[in-house]
Amino acid sequence: MILENDEGINIKTPPKSAMLEPKEVEYDRNFENCIRPKSFDTYIGQGALKETLKISIAAAQKRQMPLDHLLFYGPPGLGKTTLAGVIAEQMGVRIRITSAPALERPRDIIGILMSLEAGEILFIDEIHRLNKVAEEILYPAMEDFFLDMTTGKSQTVKTLRIELPKFTLIGATTKAGELSGPLRDRFGIVHRLEFYTEEELTQVIKRTAGILEIEVDSAGAAAIAGRSRGTPRIANRLVKRVSDYALVKADGKITKMVAEKSLNTLKIDTCGLDNTDRALLQLIIEKYNGGPVGIETIAAAIGEDPRTIEDVCEPYLLQAGLLQRTPRGRKVSPAAYKHLGLPHGQCGLFG
Ligand code: ADE
Repeated sequence: MILENDEGINIKTPPKSAMLEPKEVEYDRNFENCIRPKSFDTYIGQGALKETLKISIAAAQKRQMPLDHLLFYGPPGLGKTTLAGVIAEQMGVRIRITSAPALERPRDIIGILMSLEAGEILFIDEIHRLNKVAEEILYPAMEDFFLDMTTGKSQTVKTLRIELPKFTLIGATTKAGELSGPLRDRFGIVHRLEFYTEEELTQVIKRTAGILEIEVDSAGAAAIAGRSRGTPRIANRLVKRVSDYALVKADGKITKMVAEKSLNTLKIDTCGLDNTDRALLQLIIEKYNGGPVGIETIAAAIGEDPRTIEDVCEPYLLQAGLLQRTPRGRKVSPAAYKHLGLPHGQCGLFG
């Protein structure tokens, strides 16, 4: 079936721009894809979530129905996309991966929905960034598996109801609070991904090193894990950086000493903070007496984008108890003074 919209555009085939093709994404994504676990057995961490998902999957398979729509939320790098891939593998279905910013025009989302086959999974990353029109198209598609389309021009306009195959939508977001109520309510299963423990990250690092054929001992893996901010994506990136260092400055093997020297060179401290994190905390302490201070002010002062600060830096600083969010802005905690070696209530390194 070939369908055309008002602009005479074939909407059965999704526009290429809306799908994330592996060959079109950058090196980091390729690296991530090659080490991504494909099964629950190789996926480390998120124990409670994995158990509930296994039950939901087994129930869907017993009923011979697709899985309910799922929403994963939590800070970036914790494995939302990876988990969606594991679910697809376990269900034995194809997964189509896209991201809300790629679904700008109605035909982007319509094209993808119409190209799905029964039981398939549609994964939409950053789903909080979906525009209103795309959301309105998704509601009946999620709820009753149909699309309401209009064809023709003003006087001859006709409404066409198109049935869709029963599919599962998996949405992922770092900002569950920015999802509209009606969209959130249409997900049958909603789960938050948690930061990883150091033990879990040590296992992730050993697994990745094994795939990349990099030699690492337990103490070396633990040293990297301790500076990985509870985040496997960061742990995996650090494995590569440290392995470069080991190759050039040592005998290729990652030991505790090699890991520590390498991470010190990269200015990643014992808590996993980098220069930006430290500049942020230091600014609040030294220029704003520990806060509270608004995010826009912080961003302008340290030359960072406020969204990067909110999405990338803050989740871990909050989790680590170094930063607090208050209605009047951000405040550092006593632990931040201690971590930076600054005396409480006095000016520090900037004088
Ligand atoms: N790489 C990234 N996330 C992972 C996970 N949860 N388990 C194993 N390897 C990973």
